[in-house]
Amino acid sequence: MTFVVLEECILCKHTDCVAVCPVDCFYEGPNFLVINPDECIDCALCEPECPVDAIRAEDDVPENQKEFIQLNAQLSVHPNWTQITTQKPALVSHEQWQGVAGKLDQLDRNGA
Ligand code: SF4
Ligand code: F3S
Repeated sequence: MTFVVLEECILCKHTDCVAVCPVDCFYEGPNFLVINPDECIDCALCEPECPVDAIRAEDDVPENQKEFIQLNAQLSVHPNWTQITTQKPALVSHEQWQGVAGKLDQLDRNGA
């Protein structure tokens, strides 16, 4: 199993999750983070750290966000998505977009 970043992260990107991951398996695009499922060791440390509740275990991903499982796997290995190992400030857009549903069409895939 792996943990998965969901749409709540899009345009927010708080990065508290990155600070606790023991294996540095988060990868960054312009307005979203993803987890590499082959590197995640299932420690569950990141899930409670996200202030917008954007991380779930694969088995707990809501039905309407199942596509994010594949999206994390796909984007995390794309060369344009780079590993992020240290926390940084959230995007300035986070206040405006926190809690807004249906943000997938706002995802910047960074050429992936
Ligand atoms: Fe990293 Fe653990 Fe979260 Fe996986 S579950 S992304 S290993 S902090
Ligand atoms: Fe995104 Fe939450 Fe991490 S908003 S960057 S999953 S702390």
